[in-house]
Amino acid sequence: MHKPMPEQGRDSDQILSDLEAFKERDPRYKDGRVWSLVYYLDEEHAAFLKDSYHRFACENGLNPGAFKSLKKMETEVISATADILNGTDEVCGVVTSGGTESCLMAVKTYRDMARDQRRVKKPEMIMPTTAHVAWFKASEYFGVKIRLVPLKRDFTPDLKKLKRMINRNTVMILGSAPEYPHGTIDPIEAMGAIARKRNIPLHVDACVGGFILPFMEMNGESLPPWDYRVPGVTSISADIHKYGYAAKGASTITYRNLDYLRYQMFAYQNWPGGVFASSALLGTRPGGAYAAAWGVLQYFGKTGYRKLAQETLEAVNQLKAGIAGIPELEVMGAPQGPLLSFRSVDPAVNIYAVGDQMDAKGWQVNRNQFPAGLHAMVTAQHLRVVEPYLDDLRVAVETVKANPELAKEGGAATYGMMAHVPLRGMVKKKVLEMYSEQYRAGGGELDLAAAAATGGGKGLLDRLVQRYVDHRSRRNAS
Ligand SMILES: Cc1ncc(COP(=O)(O)O)c(C=O)c1O
Repeated sequence: MHKPMPEQGRDSDQILSDLEAFKERDPRYKDGRVWSLVYYLDEEHAAFLKDSYHRFACENGLNPGAFKSLKKMETEVISATADILNGTDEVCGVVTSGGTESCLMAVKTYRDMARDQRRVKKPEMIMPTTAHVAWFKASEYFGVKIRLVPLKRDFTPDLKKLKRMINRNTVMILGSAPEYPHGTIDPIEAMGAIARKRNIPLHVDACVGGFILPFMEMNGESLPPWDYRVPGVTSISADIHKYGYAAKGASTITYRNLDYLRYQMFAYQNWPGGVFASSALLGTRPGGAYAAAWGVLQYFGKTGYRKLAQETLEAVNQLKAGIAGIPELEVMGAPQGPLLSFRSVDPAVNIYAVGDQMDAKGWQVNRNQFPAGLHAMVTAQHLRVVEPYLDDLRVAVETVKANPELAKEGGAATYGMMAHVPLRGMVKKKVLEMYSEQYRAGGGELDLAAAAATGGGKGLLDRLVQRYVDHRSRRNAS
């Protein structure tokens, strides 16, 4: 049922105190318990973000000619991004609302470019199975078929297979630096050589790595080349609201030159509201996010980001060493950036049950599938909590080993069964139904009991998906 709008406006202090109260059941990210979603450092930094955001909370970046302040900030953010990505002065781009918007824009750009230059009618893109889910979304939204490159045992894409997937409909190739599921930096140099030889654009998804890998390299870390120094790379997405530690709502999409970027633009000349042009997906563009993004780059500068990168790497290395010291676990692949995943190598240890134990200790860790594992998006803030995290992880592994029935309970049972449902299309259909339900009038939280009472949960799969979605939302709220 809908909750009606209040008849009378309310006192602003009361509203603000309501807003604070709403946070009560949210993830406790300020004490480092959350290993994804939030990039928090300390209250001083958070206060600076809020202050710079609210100075432009009402301004609109829709028309770059109107708010010259916002255009100036956007131009400077793109210049700074091109600088750390080792681009030339030709590199150009747009500030977007987040990684997903940047990814969507790359697919639209290359689809339209191939359509215009090569008359491609059935566009295809080639990407490793580990490409972020935003690329699958882009494929659905823009009607670009995906060809998925399988991984080799070392979690890198099989480039021989990639080469064989190229055909005249290929509009782009995608690599990640690093990919989200395991933190592997794809072999961009080799992918660039293939792309260049076949004259196909190569986009690098550095939504995660864009604002940390350059600083790790400046600190002396030896990393494989992945940015504009690789000749075949034609565009890069890099999020400021991840390792740039900006307020939410800030990413960048840059291109090697304007010949690519112009295909991202939209214009409509016959609209009764006037001639309209726009540079990316959004219409109204939030000035606050631009101001906070511009502000945070000034706030840290290269020196500040290098320090954050160093602290993050220290936390990652401690985690890797700690996991290596637990014989039942292993890190997946060879992650070189700020994130990693680990799995069980002992059949007696169900990794999802380990995740449940960690949840119970107040940590919030994401689950991987195919193969099953636990995920950690590490920030500088986590350096303070690596030790207690590893202590709890050791205990969790021992507990699960000593109590095999834990694999059949809670989230472990649900995640385990979800991974084994053979009809993946049915899983998708059910997840879509459950997600839609959350947006019913007056909806908000998925309530398993209520869903069952209103007729949901008829078959095994319905119940399974309910449990899966419910477990995820409960974990997010715990
Ligand atoms: C590699 C990669 N690309 C794209 C995205 C999408 O970013 P956003 O959540 O800001 O839309 C993510 C998010 O984690 C990511 O890890």
